[in-house]
Amino acid sequence: MQDSRMEKMVSPLSILLCISLVLLAEPRSSDAAPQSKGSFVDNFDIMWSEEHFKTSADGQIWYLSLDKETGCGFQTKQRYRFGWFSMKLKLVGGDSAGVVTAYYMCSENGAGPERDELDFEFLGNRSGQPYLIQTNVYKNGTGSREMRHMLWFDPTEDFHSYSILWNSHQIVFFVDQVPVRVFKNNGEANNFFPNEKPMYLFSSIWNADDWATRGGLEKTDWTKAPFVSTYKDFSFDGCQWEDPFPACVSTTTKNWWDQYSAWHLSEDQKKDYAWVQRNLVIYDYCKDTQRFPTLPWECSLSPWD
Ligand SMILES: *[C@@H]1O[C@H](CO)[C@@H](O)[C@H](O)[C@H]1NC(C)=O
Ligand SMILES: *[C@@H]1O[C@H](CO)[C@@H](O)[C@H](O)[C@H]1NC(C)=O
Repeated sequence: MQDSRMEKMVSPLSILLCISLVLLAEPRSSDAAPQSKGSFVDNFDIMWSEEHFKTSADGQIWYLSLDKETGCGFQTKQRYRFGWFSMKLKLVGGDSAGVVTAYYMCSENGAGPERDELDFEFLGNRSGQPYLIQTNVYKNGTGSREMRHMLWFDPTEDFHSYSILWNSHQIVFFVDQVPVRVFKNNGEANNFFPNEKPMYLFSSIWNADDWATRGGLEKTDWTKAPFVSTYKDFSFDGCQWEDPFPACVSTTTKNWWDQYSAWHLSEDQKKDYAWVQRNLVIYDYCKDTQRFPTLPWECSLSPWD
């Protein structure tokens, strides 16, 4: 009697324990806690326009604002080569046509002609119309690999995580736990897959009403300024680059992001990815035969492999 009563008392607890262990064991592509954290101040420097930048009292939330004078941006102090990089963002609400919030990795602090870059850009829109996200991949200064997606939520209402998984086999863009874009390598020297140069991580807010909303037709309404994007929970689990030694070599024995299971989507991720492809893709450069009569080489690589 005594024993079975004990069992009844214990079992819900052990179930809970099991659940939390399972949650902890989930791959990093979910929101499960990555290893490296730290505050914004530990990881980032403000790049420009300090007066357009604010933090919450505890320093955990960062606010970037754009007005008619200027926007603002920050970047990591360190560079990384391969890993998992994630941040939660809440975007400018209301009428934000022309406003672009960018969250990206780049090998340089500037738009140099040989840069590698991985972009998430959030394109504001007129009130009541949906935000779009644009992603792009640059290698050695060449981009033009845009995709645009609708989201399945309003990114101005709450924080959502936007993440990049990067190894020498694939680059995956995630929104929350969902892989929205997969960019594959072919395992050979090529001119499309950025895998040599370490990158900083940046975020900024700026005015792009010359192109962002309906190709520049919708102008920024400055009576609605300042436009504010909000950031929290930066986390990464990647290899920090150290000069001048060769660092961050891919090795399948050391880091989860270099290992076999991170070279492909999991079965569950494939289902999510298929759903995104069916329902949310607005533009894919790999389908744009008007722009590319001969499609770029990487478009022949399957995201399902
Ligand atoms: C990178 O681009 C520059 C021109 O911008 C070119 O001179 C150089 O050869 C390219 N490097 C590689 C490795 O393709
Ligand atoms: C703005 O919303 C309209 C209507 O949904 C859409 O057609 C357009 O592509 C959107 N533009 C941007 C830049 O988000």
